[in-house]
Amino acid sequence: MIIDVLRQEHRNIEKLLLVLERELSVFDRTERPDYEVVWAVISYFKVYPDAYHHPQEETVFKKLTARDPAAAAKIGDLAAEHRSSSERLRRVAHAVESVLKDQEVLRQTVDDIIRDFIAHERRHIAMEETDFFPAAVNALRPQDWAEIAMTLTDRKDPLFSEIVEARFELVRKHILQLEQEAEAERRRTAGQ
Ligand SMILES: [Fe+2]
Repeated sequence: MIIDVLRQEHRNIEKLLLVLERELSVFDRTERPDYEVVWAVISYFKVYPDAYHHPQEETVFKKLTARDPAAAAKIGDLAAEHRSSSERLRRVAHAVESVLKDQEVLRQTVDDIIRDFIAHERRHIAMEETDFFPAAVNALRPQDWAEIAMTLTDRKDPLFSEIVEARFELVRKHILQLEQEAEAERRRTAGQ
């Protein structure tokens, strides 16, 4: 159940990575991407994974480490990977800021930084789904899942409420809508 939610969150993250990738291909054609869309995706990634998705995974990972240390060791340092993904995101934000401020920054450098972020996120998600989640499903017992569910709902932190998840859902919808509009606009101007 918790794993299903985490998988669903991965699908949501992948949708936004696709949006970012599409805007990046506009940038690569030396056209102007829709920076509102780009910035919305970056803002989403600045909040959602660290505040929401990663802590849940790390709670599951702690249980896995206790139940099956060998399996956890194979996966490595999950928290460190999550930190490195925030670091990559910071580089993305910084690169896009430089472009927006018209600072001298090589197109290729910006492209590399954003592609590195997207590729890393996809690899990380794939690793979690092929190695981490199955290992957790295998090793954790019903009481572990019950305890994890308790810690998640027990938190007074409003970030862990359904209301907040619903708000993130709205943000995602908004970004996807903006992206559709940007694409339609590009098609329209290309056809002129
Ligand atoms: Fe994840």
